[in-house]
Amino acid sequence: MRLPFALASRFVAAETLEGALPVVRDLNRKGMHVAMDLLGEYVTDRDVAAAARDAYISLVQTVAEERSRDGLDANVSIKLSMMGQKIDEDYCLDNLRSLLETARERDVFIRLDMEGSDITESTLRLFEEVYPDFPDHVGIVLQAYLKRTERDVERMCELNARVRICKGAYKEPASIAHQKMKTIRERFDVYAKMLIRHARYPGIATHDDRLIDSVKAFAREEGFDRDRFEFQMLYGIRPDTQEQIVRDGYHMRIYLPYGTEWLPYFTRRLRERKENVWFVVRNLLRR
Ligand code: FDA
Repeated sequence: MRLPFALASRFVAAETLEGALPVVRDLNRKGMHVAMDLLGEYVTDRDVAAAARDAYISLVQTVAEERSRDGLDANVSIKLSMMGQKIDEDYCLDNLRSLLETARERDVFIRLDMEGSDITESTLRLFEEVYPDFPDHVGIVLQAYLKRTERDVERMCELNARVRICKGAYKEPASIAHQKMKTIRERFDVYAKMLIRHARYPGIATHDDRLIDSVKAFAREEGFDRDRFEFQMLYGIRPDTQEQIVRDGYHMRIYLPYGTEWLPYFTRRLRERKENVWFVVRNLLRR
């Protein structure tokens, strides 16, 4: 049984690319950059992974064409598990390389989202494999809740890579991941500042005012230009704050998912905040 898309529409732009593009333009008009994400993950069938690769190539082409037509401002985020990472890492690498060839040719930046800890190591390995050939067109995500992340942040600073730092959205065991929000927040704060200081144009991905204020104060006190980093938030979460951050003169990029495979993404958003569950239930009751 398919659930109605209206359920997810607060967090997901549309089920098609054609439906998502007007949402990108609307965000651009409000002064925001966008990261487009075609939803899908943990694919176990080669045909499905190949179709995902082709859909992503076509997305990159569309973004480039719309950019030259009317200045559309978007880059692209992908989950490697959608392109065959769980089937065979070499197969996934081939798919990733094909996508990055198009991205470089069309000058569109691709961000590799970070997923569950079962594929953290593999994702970082694949990133390091392609990074030397595509340093300006591929970036990575690191999760502050993982205990390993300090080393990964240091490594990405050495590489001068583009990193999005986030808290982390998957359920991970205490042996490898901090569980207390206070600790996760402290770690995020440290990593965000390391990345601003030592790496290239990091994405500070959080809706957490305390972290946002801390990063703003750090940049001000240390004399870092506002072009040195960007804030990033998810589509549909704290839209007023998103606009305020733009009015305050900072870069803000909105992560904009679209596509029919929205259920896992939607479930993660509900799990993060019980207010989100109430929002969805209220809207359903209104229909
Ligand atoms: P969190 O949910 O911890 O809330 C912190 C505070 O923010 C709250 O106490 C409240 O003050 C405020 N707040 C949050 N939501 C609010 C709302 N709706 N209304 C009012 N106040 C609110 N994860 C991952 O594992 N891999 C990835 O690749 C990514 N990618 C990614 C991209 C982008 C752009 C973002 C913003 C996030 C991700 N994430 C992610 C998800 C991330 O790891 C994390 O799960 C969520 O961002 C939630 O953590 P926050 O710090 O945003 O706020």
